Amino acid sequence: MQVSEALATRFTCRAFLDTPVPEATVKAILTRASKAPSGGNLQPWRVWALAGEELGRLKGLVKAKMAAGDFADGMPEYNIFPNDLKEPYATRRFDNGETVYAALGIGREDDAGRIRQVERNFEFFGAPVGLFLAIDRSMQPGQWADLGMFAQSIMLLAREYDLHTAALESWALRYKTVGEFLGMPKELMLFCGMALGHMDPAQPVNQVRLGRAPLSEFATLSGFESLSVSDPEKTLTSADAAA
Ligand SMILES: Cc1cc2nc3c(=O)[nH]c(=O)nc-3n(C[C@H](O)[C@H](O)[C@H](O)COP(=O)(O)O)c2cc1C
Repeated sequence: MQVSEALATRFTCRAFLDTPVPEATVKAILTRASKAPSGGNLQPWRVWALAGEELGRLKGLVKAKMAAGDFADGMPEYNIFPNDLKEPYATRRFDNGETVYAALGIGREDDAGRIRQVERNFEFFGAPVGLFLAIDRSMQPGQWADLGMFAQSIMLLAREYDLHTAALESWALRYKTVGEFLGMPKELMLFCGMALGHMDPAQPVNQVRLGRAPLSEFATLSGFESLSVSDPEKTLTSADAAA
């Protein structure tokens, strides 16, 4: 699989089949993802992978808490979003929520439906594998960026195995439950969960594809016009434009 195909076909999958993923596959994906670069080669990532009864036990714990009206362990240990999210980010976040909830058929006033969808995050959307990514508390923004590259590497490699993923920051709300369950050393901070498994193609929510801002909005290129080189084979195609 080409990198561009892995990138183009990765999306946040929010409904999985219960088809198991072999341990060997998870090991291969994580081993290969550890080729991700990191400043100073610190490799500042730590990952747990749960499946089967272990995963079921953790999901059961969270489910029981939710049923008792306990919706979070407290404020997440890091600010998931800035308190005052400015434009254009606030609109993008809003549109993301609207698009996903519309695909799920959950209206704005449907509080029960919205709570149920939050619960689905903590069920890993039915995925057979739940990953948890953590980082040492002493690490700085550069190392958090490294952790992000590791996470993206997992998500792209998953495509090579015909698997899909969903990175889930919502798990940061359950940092105590997860930390205790995994026996996570206190010096580590939970970044996110990640669902891994086979997509359920029958679920409309898996048709959602969030758009991206055009190149001109986030990139500045200069000096190229003075060069007479071209690479017609690897330039953008109509598929990129549609994505
Ligand atoms: C680190 C990270 C955490 C995320 N956490 C959640 C989450 O808790 N729940 C959720 O439904 N989506 C979550 N997402 C998915 C984003 O909403 C999604 O990546 C974004 O809207 C772009 O859509 P796409 O991934 O389908 O291209 C997360 C994504 C990332 C990268």
